[in-house]
Amino acid sequence: MEVLALLGSPRRLGNSELMAKEISRQIPEPHRLKLVRLPEMDIRPCRACYTCMFDEHTCPQKDDFPRILEALLRADGLILAVPVYMLAANASLKRFLDRGLSLYGRFEQLWAKPAVAVAIAGMPGMEGYTKLCLDSALRLIGAQPKGSEVVYGALPGEVLTNQDNVQTAARLAGALFGPPLDWQSEPYRCQACGGDTFRFLDSEQVRCMTCSSPGRVEVTDGRISFVVNPPEDHFFLTLEGARRHLHWLQGMKQRFLEQKKELKSICLDYLREGEWLEPRE
Ligand SMILES: Cc1cc2nc3c(=O)[nH]c(=O)nc-3n(C[C@H](O)[C@H](O)[C@H](O)COP(=O)(O)O)c2cc1C
Repeated sequence: MEVLALLGSPRRLGNSELMAKEISRQIPEPHRLKLVRLPEMDIRPCRACYTCMFDEHTCPQKDDFPRILEALLRADGLILAVPVYMLAANASLKRFLDRGLSLYGRFEQLWAKPAVAVAIAGMPGMEGYTKLCLDSALRLIGAQPKGSEVVYGALPGEVLTNQDNVQTAARLAGALFGPPLDWQSEPYRCQACGGDTFRFLDSEQVRCMTCSSPGRVEVTDGRISFVVNPPEDHFFLTLEGARRHLHWLQGMKQRFLEQKKELKSICLDYLREGEWLEPRE
C-alpha cells in the first residue's frame, strides 16, 4: 500500500514532517510513505476560467498540481500535516485547495480515500480555525476523514518531546485504515459530517462550517446538541452529490452566455473607478 503525506510546512524536519512520519511509523498496515512538501511545489493560482469543468478536465496552468493529483490518486491513504500560521492552516494548503475544481473530473477515482489530518500550533490554544481548515480540506478533496487533531509544539522537533503527541500520532495511525468514524454518539458534532465548528446565525439557528448543513442548537439537561438537516443534494457528502454539483457548475456556462450582455454592462460601469497599485516589474 502507499500512503501520501501532504506537508504544509516549509521547514525541513519541522514538526509537520515529524508528525506525518510518526503517524506513518505507527500505521499497522505495511506501506510505502510518499511525501509532498506543498510550499516547495509550483502550484499556481486558479484563474477561474472553468476549463477544468469540461472535456478532459485539465487545467491550463502548467505547474506541479497534476503531479500532486496523480500521487493522490495512486495513494491508498492520505496524511495531511500542516503548521498553524496566523490562526489558520498555512497558505500552502489553501493554494492547493484553490485548484480543487480540477478534482471534480477525478472524483470517481478519488472518492472516499481514507485520510487523517494533523495541525501543529506553536502555542497551546492558539490554533484559531485551523482544525476547520483541515476538516474542510479532507471533505473538499472527497476523502473519507478518519480523524483530525491539533497538537502543540513550537521549535522544530519539539512536537515529539511530548508523549501525548506521540499518542495522538498513534491514534491517527490506527484510525487511517480502520472502521469509518462514528460521530453519531457525539451530539456536539455535526451529525451529517462529524464537523465540530458551527456558526451561530441567531440564538437558535446554526450552520456547520465544515459541510454547510443548516441546523439548530438544543439544550437538554444542561447539555448542548446540534440537530442538523443536510440538504438532500449536498455536494460533498456523497459521490452522487459531487456529480450533481459538477453538472450544476457546468450549467453555469450556459447561464453566463445567456446573461453575458447584461452582466458586461454592469461590470463596465465600474471600469474606470479608483487608482491601481501595480505589481512590481
Ligand atoms: C508566520 C507564522 C505564523 C504563526 N502563527 C501561529 C499561530 O497563529 N498560532 C500558533 O499557535 N502558532 C503559530 N505559529 C507557530 C507554528 O505553528 C509552530 O512553530 C509550528 O510548530 C510550525 O510547524 P512546522 O515546524 O511544521 O513548520 C506561527 C509560525 C509562523 C512562522
